[in-house]
Amino acid sequence: EALSSFKEMLQKKQFGDASDKVVIEQFLEGVEVSVFALTDGEHYQIIGHAKDYKRIGEGDTGLNTGGMDCVSPVPFMDSAFMDKIKTQIIEPTIQGIHLEGLVYKGFVFFGLMNCKGNPYVIEYNCRLGDPETEVILPRLQTDLVSLLAAADNGTLEDVNILYQDASFATVMAVSGGYPGSYQKNFPIQGIDIAKQLPDTLVFQAGTGFQENSIVTSGGRVLTVTCQGKDLQNAVQKAQKALGSIHFEAMYFRKPYVSFNTASIREILPSRNFAFLIDDYTELQEIFRGLNNGQIGSDVLDEMSCNAKLKYETEFSQAILTDKFSKII
Ligand code: GLY
Repeated sequence: EALSSFKEMLQKKQFGDASDKVVIEQFLEGVEVSVFALTDGEHYQIIGHAKDYKRIGEGDTGLNTGGMDCVSPVPFMDSAFMDKIKTQIIEPTIQGIHLEGLVYKGFVFFGLMNCKGNPYVIEYNCRLGDPETEVILPRLQTDLVSLLAAADNGTLEDVNILYQDASFATVMAVSGGYPGSYQKNFPIQGIDIAKQLPDTLVFQAGTGFQENSIVTSGGRVLTVTCQGKDLQNAVQKAQKALGSIHFEAMYFRKPYVSFNTASIREILPSRNFAFLIDDYTELQEIFRGLNNGQIGSDVLDEMSCNAKLKYETEFSQAILTDKFSKII
């Protein structure tokens, strides 16, 4: 299949002049995660990391979107993995920009894949992300304006970055039909109510103002971000807060829906755990087997990856089993 596509593109010039060059990329299997750096051109600081969930449908089904939900911090982002990201990816990138003679001061979005504990670059962006921004900025304790000033005047090296000691989740409310066609100009009720809930922020994106009311004006209408004591708590709060908001054909995905944690407790101790931690694919398969179709494949992948990394680094089987129920 690959060879025939290659012939179509290169020999038969499927894409005209653009077919002169074909780039073959390594297929990467793993879990996506995004890391955000700010650079003054020479130094950098990591201002956060996040994982977004891209598919429109519950259970991680359907078309890809810009991102329906997002969480920060990400369970598998421990210091060992972050060190690899810094030394293997961020530092060579910032040095590379500098060595090219370019002066770039601003954000760098590293779209990464965690392949069995090793980071690979999927994409770079010279911006933050949506919905990643809605979780990384609330989690960032250091004042953003002072960071931007430090990036401008070349003193980022001296800045101390602090993060809130809490988990953040955002849930996106979209217009019915998105990412396909959708209708606009529906009045939105309840934003003021949601904004007043504790630990809650509402970010408006595809909204407008008509006859003294806020109306929908795009596909990605708004997100609600909540802070929680852990990821599950933050997600539950965000979904609940979103329940205060309403507009016609409003849709949002329920990311971490109920999962039978009892079944995990029953099955894992009865397995030979040694083979699980040796074989990430096997772990993924077991998680898929436990899933009743309610959790998306990227969440399952993240759980298995997290389980493997945590087990290898710090957890006994009993603690790990407990950890699963917290993650989901
Ligand atoms: N959420 C993906 C992006 O902003 O590119």
